[in-house]
Amino acid sequence: MLQRPRGTRDFLPDEMERRRGVEAALRDRVARWGYREVCTPEFEELELFTLRSGAGIVGEIYAFEDKGGRQMALRPEITAPVLRMFVNEAKVQPRPLRWFYFADCFRYERPQKGRYRQFWQFGVELIGADTPRADAEAILLADDLLRAAGVPSDIHVGHLAPMKHLLRDLDPGARAKAMAFLDKRDFDGLGGFLGGIGKPDLEGRLRDLAHARTLDELFAVTGDIPEKERIEKTVEILDKNGLACTLDFGIARGLDYYTGTVFEGFAPNLGAENQVLGGGAYRLAHLFGGDDVPSCGFALGFDRIMVSLGEKPLSRPVRVAVCSTEEGRMRAFEVARAFREQGVCAEIDLLDRNLGAQMAHAAKSADYAAIIGKREVETGTVTLKDLRSGDQKAVPLPDAVAEVAARVPR
Ligand code: HAM
Repeated sequence: MLQRPRGTRDFLPDEMERRRGVEAALRDRVARWGYREVCTPEFEELELFTLRSGAGIVGEIYAFEDKGGRQMALRPEITAPVLRMFVNEAKVQPRPLRWFYFADCFRYERPQKGRYRQFWQFGVELIGADTPRADAEAILLADDLLRAAGVPSDIHVGHLAPMKHLLRDLDPGARAKAMAFLDKRDFDGLGGFLGGIGKPDLEGRLRDLAHARTLDELFAVTGDIPEKERIEKTVEILDKNGLACTLDFGIARGLDYYTGTVFEGFAPNLGAENQVLGGGAYRLAHLFGGDDVPSCGFALGFDRIMVSLGEKPLSRPVRVAVCSTEEGRMRAFEVARAFREQGVCAEIDLLDRNLGAQMAHAAKSADYAAIIGKREVETGTVTLKDLRSGDQKAVPLPDAVAEVAARVPR
């Protein structure tokens, strides 16, 4: 038997209905903030992803050569594609641009629960605003979306400047390594690394930085830095808006394009893969041939949100099974159409089952049976049976439709 590729999933109708329900809640919420949907291709030129991150990232990407010999990649994330699109199509549009996307990404990862090779992101890019208010809007929106999805989570907010300030004497390669250790909270690894490059004294200050939970603690480690006011302002806006976030200046983020504020969200009920959201302020447009446009954004890991929500019961649509004898078969189409036109889900028998077998099937799959026999055909009625109570009555078709339609939530 053929199997689906490793790290991918199939979604049966129950799961798709759950996913679409959460997606609808996110779409509704993001629209209230003025964000509009964009869509980019599923594959791009590989260079789009290596320009900033270097060739090292290719090992984590589904990269391939197409039939024309071009180096291509399935998108591992959507920020770079969106900024490419911005430069190609929208750089003269009034700023800031508020865009969102809901789409799948591909990463060549070792699969486990919450980590897949094909996964969906619900992401936001706020392009062309470089103020504490813009950073704060992105973080408050991230929090609002997680609430709309129904996922309680802890948002950690940081900024790259303090970390970069402490690491300013390291060459770029060593700085990137130290930041990667910090990001993973691997202090033993960090200590070993700093010792190896003759900077053991930095370890203690970096530990203090990662453990700072107030701005006073932070600036006690770094002293005055040029970004101090900006960080204070952003935190003040979050505070005044009642966001209970954790200040965390140990966040370095895995992707290389971030420049300032960074933030991540964690769902406490998940295991190792508990990061449900990541983002920050970044600059990418200038790499793709545009101006150096400041942007800020984030992406929710949609699949992790679904894991966090668990198997919540579905609210099912009201369903009518149209059951008919041989004489009623032709009219079944018309009866089903009348229900559908009033927003009710209606299904007819397609397997030539007798009436008893159709009713047995309806008992498993529907809320009502609309029965059409010889008498109903002759009188233009249907017998409407409530399959929960067992009550049934012969009524004109419009009355049957009106009775069931009244139960459909609007
Ligand atoms: P990221 O942190 O790499 O950021 O991914 C965002 C979220 O996608 C993660 O927090 C996680 O929930 C989810 N995610 C990542 N990898 C996987 C995977 N293999 N399986 C399931 N879920 C996964 C970005 O991608 C940035 N583009 C976010 C951004 C937007 N920054 C600025 N704008």
